[in-house]
Amino acid sequence: MADSWVNSAERIGADLHVELAGSGSRRAALTRALRSAVQDGRLAPGTRLPPYRSLAADLGIARNTVSQAYAELVAEGWLTARQGSGTRVAPRAEPVRPARVAVEPPPRAAVGPAHNLMQGQPDAGSFPRGAWLSCARRALNAAPNEAFGPGDPQGRIELRRALADYLARVRGVRTTSDRIVVCSGFAHALRLLFGGQVLRGPLAVESYGLAFHRSLLAAEGVRTVPVGLDEQGARVAEFSQRPELKGVRAALLTPGHQFPTGGPLHPERRAAAVDWARARGRVLLEDDYDGEFRYDREPVGAVQGLDPERVVYLGSVSKSLSPAVRLGWMVLPEQLVEPVLAAKGMREAWASVLDQLTLADLIESGAYDRHVRRMRQRYRSRRDQLLAALDEHAPHITAAGIAAGLHAVLRLPVGTEGAALKAAARQGIALDGLAGYRHPDAVMPAQDGLVVGYATPPDHGYQAALDALCRALPPMR
Ligand SMILES: Cc1ncc(COP(=O)(O)O)c(C=O)c1O
Repeated sequence: MADSWVNSAERIGADLHVELAGSGSRRAALTRALRSAVQDGRLAPGTRLPPYRSLAADLGIARNTVSQAYAELVAEGWLTARQGSGTRVAPRAEPVRPARVAVEPPPRAAVGPAHNLMQGQPDAGSFPRGAWLSCARRALNAAPNEAFGPGDPQGRIELRRALADYLARVRGVRTTSDRIVVCSGFAHALRLLFGGQVLRGPLAVESYGLAFHRSLLAAEGVRTVPVGLDEQGARVAEFSQRPELKGVRAALLTPGHQFPTGGPLHPERRAAAVDWARARGRVLLEDDYDGEFRYDREPVGAVQGLDPERVVYLGSVSKSLSPAVRLGWMVLPEQLVEPVLAAKGMREAWASVLDQLTLADLIESGAYDRHVRRMRQRYRSRRDQLLAALDEHAPHITAAGIAAGLHAVLRLPVGTEGAALKAAARQGIALDGLAGYRHPDAVMPAQDGLVVGYATPPDHGYQAALDALCRALPPMR
């Protein structure tokens, strides 16, 4: 039978499985196996091979056999041996390329729009790399061995405890760690809730929202019914007034900062939405996607605080840290915890346990608060710069949704959005119009506007982006 070894990263840089198969001596088999690993690129140039002693012990062969195999490959030029740095794969040992190279996607066009004002992302350059690294190091050092086994689908208790305290302190969420289920973000939460049959449609949604979320729900077989919006947020009275909304079993709202049009849900409407859910046995889904970033007023707390048994509160680090982290949370009414866990399955299959421990440490150590505070200042001054530019060059244009978040909506006269988008494109600006966010079945009058994301442009290019934007706006009539 063939002997095999799997080297550990501690011994050599990359993981590799070597089989001592075939006829002939052990030395010949090892030489063949290593040579082919170098040839086909599994052992990259510069990779350090294990010391004779440990490889011999792993394979149950003599040390001398390993040293002879290495020496043969050094003589052939596949390996190099230097005093002090051990045996390594030779730098010139280019792997043999397969005859047919897999088709790779074409590289992205080198020339894109000059100014990126697309909403959706936090400032990628501000990710707290140093803090994340030190929290990861500390969390991994402190983690018990069982943390490296299969994960609990509810999420690490360290993170759930940290979140329960943090969300209570910062967002007014009323919960305990056993009501929290960790997931990989808002989109994942929607999939679990509806794909896992925890909740069923039809679902009331705001007339303007992310098309991506609407298609995700449609893919899960959920019909969405749009509710109107005005300057006080979603018109929740429609839940009981409009016949097409009477049959909905749940409602998805962005009460902190209507996405993307702007304002918070009026306090009376917050209460009315909860009353509707209570009276009709319905569930409210609260998408608190950017709740930490409020600038002008007292923070608007979570609706969940009004009735934790009727509201599913959903959040993630996608705006506060980065959408690349893929960590989010669901704060659930008691009766939904078990169904959501059943939808997740026996083991955690989505949210990395190590990242959960790191995020728990980031929150507990205060580094998360510090990062959010720093970003709040940054985004606020970005927003102020946008308002100053409008004030100077386009005072007839109103910016909405400016009290919070990472984007604003520039309101435009009805019928002018398409032309403004074309003008923006001519100025080299990438950004969206409101039309792309409108629910196809919406009955409220269409709103024209440009959705301006101000988080991502680099500092040195931001003023130029704003100047270009102002040139693209329709002139005063
Ligand atoms: C309206 C809205 N909800 C939720 C999210 C968060 O989505 P996720 O946690 O899946 O990245 C975003 C984007 O960050 C968003 O724009």
